[in-house]
This record gives sequence, C-alpha cells and structure tokens, in this order.
Amino acid sequence: MRVTDGLEERLAERDGRILTRSLDPGSKVYGERLHSRNGAEWREWSLQRSKPAAFMARGGELPLRRDDRLLYLGAASGTTASHFSDLLDRGTVYCVEVSPRSFRDLVTVCGRRRNMLPVMGDAGRPQDLAFAVEGASVVYQDVAQKGQASMLAENMRAFGAERGMLALKSRSEDVTAAPAKILERAVAKLESEGLSVVDVRMLEPYEKDHAMVVVRA
Ligand SMILES: C[S@@+](CC[C@H](N)C(=O)[O-])C[C@H]1O[C@@H](n2cnc3c(N)ncnc32)[C@H](O)[C@@H]1O
Repeated sequence: MRVTDGLEERLAERDGRILTRSLDPGSKVYGERLHSRNGAEWREWSLQRSKPAAFMARGGELPLRRDDRLLYLGAASGTTASHFSDLLDRGTVYCVEVSPRSFRDLVTVCGRRRNMLPVMGDAGRPQDLAFAVEGASVVYQDVAQKGQASMLAENMRAFGAERGMLALKSRSEDVTAAPAKILERAVAKLESEGLSVVDVRMLEPYEKDHAMVVVRA
C-alpha cells in the first residue's frame, strides 16, 4: 500500500489490512474491527464497504494531507467519511448528504468527532452549500447519479479545491454502455473542464463497475 507523505501517523497497513488511527477511541461506526498498536487505537478500513480503501488496495495513493479541508459529496451515514476524519486530524471534513434518513445517522457520527461537520444539501447545487462550507482544498465525491464528472468539476471550482477524487459508478451514467467506455467519457469530461487526471483505477474485485479517478486543478 502507498501511504501519502505526511499521513504515516494516521494511515497504516498491518497483515494486509488497512488501518486508520481513530479520532474517537472505543467507538465503532459500522462494526469495523479495532486494533491496538503503539498505544493507540486503529480502525480497520473495509475494502468492500469503502471505495478509497479499495482504491488503495488496487495500488492508489490518497491525495490527502492532515490539514486538508475536505468537501465530501454523498457522505451517506458517514462510513467512509469517518476514516477521512481519522486521517485529517488537523483538518475538517464537510459531509454533504441529501437523504434525510442517512443524514440522521451522519449527524450522530459527526457529533462524536471534532473535525466532521454534517451539511444537509444537494451536491448538484454548490451555491446552496456555501452557507456551511467556507472553502475546500480537496473534494471527494461518491454520489450515484448521472453527470458525476461535471458535478465534481463544478464543486471544485465553486470551493477553490486543488485536488479531487471521483468514485465513479458507471451504471448510474448509462446502464447499457460498457464501464470502460463510461470511464473514458468521464475522463474526457474532467479534462474538458480544465482538470488534470493523475490516476485512474478500476475497483474490482471490491466494487463492481466502479472506478476511482484522481484529478488536480
Ligand atoms: C453510494 S452512497 C455513498 C456511500 C458513502 N460515500 C460511503 O462510502 O460511506 C451515495 C450517497 O449519495 C447521496 N446522494 C445522492 N445524490 C446526492 C446529491 N445530489 N447530493 C448529496 N447527496 C447525494 C445518497 O443519498 C447516498 O447516501
């Protein structure tokens, strides 16, 4: 696994498992296993339930820093966002979610973590998120809907982000087209928006028909 420079104290691999150092010791978010290591508590990051973990298992490197302001679009109940919260102990994770049901669980997770803020809203309308989000250095997007590449580009622009990660679900773009074709179109769209695509990985066998695309502004 490739650990980004500066994240060594927050992200580790042990016996083939990916671990994040917990910001909320003694507490689980989704039933993950907890491990003690060097006097600290570490949470196992599920490759099957969290796409950034699958991305790392496929050789990818997270474009994150401990002091990032991360705008997370499609946070659901906070499974993946809680691991980002572990990593960005000097930063902030703004968690945007549109579904009231998921948002309720998200609020509970955020309430236990000093760097995680819940934002109820539509990621397709960045202007409506500005009341809660001052700006972002990085955007992570995982919303299963059409127009995923445009949505990432628009949010990066609106919040001045220099880095972005898109968890692309090809079936949400077009159920009839091959995932490789959808990925090709998404990459072309991101580039046409002026972004540089720095890494692309399919997430099989952990997530079917999903890719992770990393971009820079
Ligand atoms: C695949 S799930 C996200 C899983 C989550 N990222 C994780 O790894 O823990 C997609 C989420 O995006 C949310 N979503 C879909 N469209 C959205 C939108 N326009 N704005 C905000 N959230 C949206 C859905 O309600 C759902 O919770």
